[in-house]
Amino acid sequence: MSLTPAGSLPADPSPGHDIADRLELLRRACAGLAAGRPEMPAAQFANPVARYADPARLAQEQRLIRRFPQVAAAAGEMTKPGDWIARDISGVPVLLVRDETGRVNAFINACRHRGVRLAADGCGAGRRSFTCPYHAWTYGTDGKLVGVPAAEGFPNMKREEMGLRRLHCAERYGFVFVQVDPTAPKVDVDAWLGPMAHELEHIGTADYVVWRPAQLEKKTNWKLALDTFLENYHTRRTHTKTIWPVFLDNTAAFDRLSPHARVVLPKRSIPEIRDQDRETWNLRDHSTVLYTIFPNLMLAVLPDHCAIFQVWPDGIDNCKLPAYTLVPPKYLESATAQDIWSKSMHVVFEVTEEDSDRSEAIQAALNSGANDHFVFGRYEQALAWFHQEVEAMLNGQADWVRYAEAAE
Ligand code: FES
Repeated sequence: MSLTPAGSLPADPSPGHDIADRLELLRRACAGLAAGRPEMPAAQFANPVARYADPARLAQEQRLIRRFPQVAAAAGEMTKPGDWIARDISGVPVLLVRDETGRVNAFINACRHRGVRLAADGCGAGRRSFTCPYHAWTYGTDGKLVGVPAAEGFPNMKREEMGLRRLHCAERYGFVFVQVDPTAPKVDVDAWLGPMAHELEHIGTADYVVWRPAQLEKKTNWKLALDTFLENYHTRRTHTKTIWPVFLDNTAAFDRLSPHARVVLPKRSIPEIRDQDRETWNLRDHSTVLYTIFPNLMLAVLPDHCAIFQVWPDGIDNCKLPAYTLVPPKYLESATAQDIWSKSMHVVFEVTEEDSDRSEAIQAALNSGANDHFVFGRYEQALAWFHQEVEAMLNGQADWVRYAEAAE
């Protein structure tokens, strides 16, 4: 998928810095324009169709998602002590709460007495504790069990061992990362992000706030939904009236930031700047930069805001796509800014619907026997990378040593 803004803010669109190596990326975009094609590997790639259709495979993928840090929320969704969010993440009910010290804690959203959810899915503010609706055990925002009615009924219970089940959680670059499998080895989020950390720091995602969250549901395997984001070979035919007029045809710069990825989609305005002083080049004005934070978060960097889509499996042939816009808070009250963001996100959702039409059509014919493999051409290398990363992790080739949290 590719994304386009409807304009940009008039001046000083800070915060929102730039991509780390913008000049080199723009140089590559110009080279792609001259060559009339994207950067390409030597070979095409064959992806077995069974990887989209096998329920046992999906169960493995869900375990994989639960073991590694996932973006569970944007930090901007919970800025003050007592702010909380309850949501299902890959089949696990998760409770996020910012405690009195300002730290975000993540717990399994289940009472330690007999397992009832403490909070219904949703969000709120001003909490100092959570009381179970069943028998009223009460927990602090740090997860400690602080209240048990008629406590003499539990003579053998050690209260200090009965706090909420804590999950590894870290707030980085404006996102809350959580490992929802409580048995998973703790992963250092900066090591996990690798080169992505540097990118997020430069983009300034920590300085943005969430604007107009939404959620889509699609009748397609979660990986088919993600596949539509990872190449622009389809833009001419699928997005003819929406973004095809804005972007160069089938031209992009691809970078594997393993296990993550970056795709730079240059706009048709690139020729205007080719002969200008390089120091004046602004990557965000002349391209959309699309990141995958492995495995399921798509971050589109637009001139003065970012669009986020996340894809969660919901059965073998269904997925949920929470989406939101990250915007600079200084423009939140600006009618001009709101108008630009509204128009931009209207296009983004229109493009997503066009993509979903394609992925749902693939899903409908997935078990027809037409294809044993899908062929990813040399224009579609980021798809190959994504599926290679999933495969490597499922085969136990994750670099746990590299990702492991240093012993405290
Ligand atoms: Fe929560 Fe009993 S299940 S207090």
